[in-house]
Amino acid sequence: MLVLDTNCAMEEIIILPDEEATKQLGRHLASQLTPNSVLLLQGDLGAGKTTLVQGLGEALGITEPILSPTFTLINEYPEARIPLYHVDLYRLTPLQVQQMHLENYWLAIDVPPGITAIEWANLLPHFPPHYYLVTLQILHDSSRKATILRV
Ligand SMILES: Nc1ncnc2c1ncn2[C@@H]1O[C@H](COP(=O)(O)OP(=O)(O)OP(=O)(O)O)[C@@H](O)[C@H]1O
Ligand SMILES: [Mg+2]
Repeated sequence: MLVLDTNCAMEEIIILPDEEATKQLGRHLASQLTPNSVLLLQGDLGAGKTTLVQGLGEALGITEPILSPTFTLINEYPEARIPLYHVDLYRLTPLQVQQMHLENYWLAIDVPPGITAIEWANLLPHFPPHYYLVTLQILHDSSRKATILRV
C-alpha cells in the first residue's frame, strides 16, 4: 500500500507474516540503498529490527552471522558489497548517543562509504538529511506491520 504523507514523502505499508518476510524486506532494501544511505529502524523490543538487518546483510554478501549490537553498540562489516555499519542505541542516553558522532558514518569520515543501519533510531538527537525509516509494529497475530518512509 502506498500513501503520501503531508510532506509528500512516499510511505509504504507492508504486512510481514513471518520472520522470513522481515528478512525479505531487508534483502529488498539492499537493492535500494547506496553507499552513504542511512536506514533508521524503530519498533518495540523484539519487533524484528535485527532480523531485517540480517536480510539486508545477506543481500550485501555478508556471510558471518549478524548479531544484535546491543552490547557492542556498533558492528562493522567493511568487506560487504557495500560496507554495513549496524548500530543499536537501546542502552544509551541521549548524551551518549550524541558522543558517538554517528554522522561520521553517513558522512564517511574515517570510514569507507557504507550503509548505516540504526536500531532504536528514535534515540538519535537529530536525523540525517536523507534516510529510510522503517517502523515495525507487532500485530495481535504476531505478524509485523512495516511502515517504510523515504526522506
Ligand atoms: N514478521 C515476523 N513475524 C513473526 N516473528 C518475527 C517477524 N520478524 C521477526 N520475527 C521474530 O521476532 C523476534 C525478535 O526479532 P529481532 O531480534 O529481530 O527484534 P529486534 O527488534 O531487533 O529486537 P530488539 O528490540 O531486542 O533489538 C525473532 O524471534 C524473530 O524471528
Ligand atoms: Mg535488535
